[in-house]
Amino acid sequence: MSFLKSQSSQLQLKGIRGAFLDFIDDPFYVSEAESVRYVADGLLVLADGKVEAFGAYGDLCAEYGEIAITHYPNRLIMPGFIDTHIHYPQTGMIAAYGEQLLEWLNQYTFPTEQKFKDKAYARNVAEIFLDELLRNGTTTALVFACVFPQSVDAFFEAAEGRNLCMIAGKVMMDRNAPAALCDTAESSYQETKALIQKWHRRGRLRYAVTPRFAITSTDEQLRLAGQLLQEFPDVYLHTHVSENVDEVAWVKELFPDCQGYLDTYAQAGLVKERSIFAHGVHLSDQEFQRLSEAGAAVALCHTSSLFLGSGLFKIEQAKSTEYPVKVGLGTDVGAGTSFSLLQTANEAYKVAQLRHQTLSPFKALFLATLGGARALCLDDTIGNFDLGKAADFIVLDPRATPLMAFRNAPDTPRDLTELADRVFSLVMMGDDRVVEATYILGELAHERTNLESE
Ligand code: GUN
Ligand code: ZN
Repeated sequence: MSFLKSQSSQLQLKGIRGAFLDFIDDPFYVSEAESVRYVADGLLVLADGKVEAFGAYGDLCAEYGEIAITHYPNRLIMPGFIDTHIHYPQTGMIAAYGEQLLEWLNQYTFPTEQKFKDKAYARNVAEIFLDELLRNGTTTALVFACVFPQSVDAFFEAAEGRNLCMIAGKVMMDRNAPAALCDTAESSYQETKALIQKWHRRGRLRYAVTPRFAITSTDEQLRLAGQLLQEFPDVYLHTHVSENVDEVAWVKELFPDCQGYLDTYAQAGLVKERSIFAHGVHLSDQEFQRLSEAGAAVALCHTSSLFLGSGLFKIEQAKSTEYPVKVGLGTDVGAGTSFSLLQTANEAYKVAQLRHQTLSPFKALFLATLGGARALCLDDTIGNFDLGKAADFIVLDPRATPLMAFRNAPDTPRDLTELADRVFSLVMMGDDRVVEATYILGELAHERTNLESE
């Protein structure tokens, strides 16, 4: 009997062999030698969609040499990327010309989001959106739907159909937006509650209470959002903060009794662990401190902040040792100009340069993986190759384009110095073209065709 049992469990195992890069600690606080885990010839053993074993191929092949192994020579295998802020209804309005935040919302965003009253339309866009995430190596995202509950149903149904770990929520918005997009404080409370009961913790799905931003919510709506967080303590809070100077000034007018933008949320009980605030470009010192003390997180959305001319995020302040704030990267499509977290990291590097800071390629990729998982409080299940974690991972080709093939030798980096140069080229030059394969729970979910570097 025991022979049969071990044989059948062996049959369910499969392996991925290649060069692996992940993070076991935060390189902003711990040396890269201690935080980066690089296995130049590694084996990832999968069982039931989870990591069963991980290490050097030479160490594991005696035990697992007989299982079916897929080998990816001269590639780099990483945990799937985690996008901590994106709007699925804005997929089709990416690259909308000429405006800054408030005008951009009125001219492009609000008309687009009205189309999501139609659930079939929403479902179609959700599928296109998820295809695009997987093409770009993003396996988990924190997602804005829009005000219509059916836009949330459409998204979660599409994500569930693909076994994806996704967090999303209905936009709550009861003022300063077109009537067709407004709910009321009470209806937003009731609809959000019903959606939480339907979707939160259903499989890999999680719910985020999602007031759009302080400008489009009354005090009463924010208060009820806070009440939902009390009633359902493990749901998320997802909103925008301090993105644009005109926005910050308007918030000051709308909330004269608050001490600043973040305080509009804090007074409603919305600043806590599992709260994720997008942008934070114009946060004050006190606001950084408050986020740190609350254990809340900020999504850094550099392609968006540059595209809308919003400003340059102070990453060294968020990553200070005195008041550390959890941060992840967000594409913020459709204000963001790319679904690729590599492109987002590229802009993060350039924003750091403009501010006379540096952002090493390992730090950038930490933010895109384990950093994002920590920001979303999901690091117990995703973010690196620790045993027992979900096998959501990606295979990157550092020679995916003719120019990258010219720049990067075909051989595998031998040490962290060689690896740093290779991954910096991925951050600067990479996008969906370098994502050769994306796996969800150990199953191939996207494979790039027309590879040029063979
Ligand atoms: N602030 C409020 N709504 C939005 C949005 O849709 N995109 C961005 N970038 N900022 C916002
Ligand atoms: Zn946004």
